[in-house]
Amino acid sequence: MYDNSHLDHIKKFRKSMGYDLYREADKLIKPEYFRKPGGVHGTLHAKRVLLLAMLMSEADNLPKYERNILAICSAYHDIGREHDGHCTVHGIYSFNKAKKLGLLNDLNSYELRLVRYIIEGHCIDDKKAKSGFSDDESALRLYDYFCDCDSLDRVRLGTLYRLDESYLRTNTSKSLVGVAYGIYKDWDKVYAELI
Ligand SMILES: [Fe+2]
Ligand SMILES: [Fe+2]
Repeated sequence: MYDNSHLDHIKKFRKSMGYDLYREADKLIKPEYFRKPGGVHGTLHAKRVLLLAMLMSEADNLPKYERNILAICSAYHDIGREHDGHCTVHGIYSFNKAKKLGLLNDLNSYELRLVRYIIEGHCIDDKKAKSGFSDDESALRLYDYFCDCDSLDRVRLGTLYRLDESYLRTNTSKSLVGVAYGIYKDWDKVYAELI
């Protein structure tokens, strides 16, 4: 299911424009924000989603402010989870928790709306999630990117919730499935290479 191409990706990413932002964003992910930091939706999930988001951003050359939005969503999208099962409300809980903790204070009002849209929408019906930003192409694109990054880390889950590649939205994420497996299987080595 995976080759060793993830290590080449990581080495290349270290030399890329997006690496500094990635390192800074990784510091946003703190165990105390999570109910179960060691669980399947805990800190390591957030860290892998962040890395995948930054790899996708680099591959598609996204502007810095969009990378920043994806980084924030990666760090905080699951901090409101109260259990690890199927759940359609933890997006709202996560956004509210991040806001209450003051983690979103540096965002301007548009950025805050974007982060809210992505975090609240990542666990609900797509149509409903997209309805609020239907006229904003950049927002819709970022939403799709984020959902793909979160989905790619389903490689960690068992048969019930595992990654179904046909659900991936962007060509870039489809090309990163093997890399996502590698990042998950080889996390300690990958992280040591990066931080
Ligand atoms: Fe989630
Ligand atoms: Fe997640």
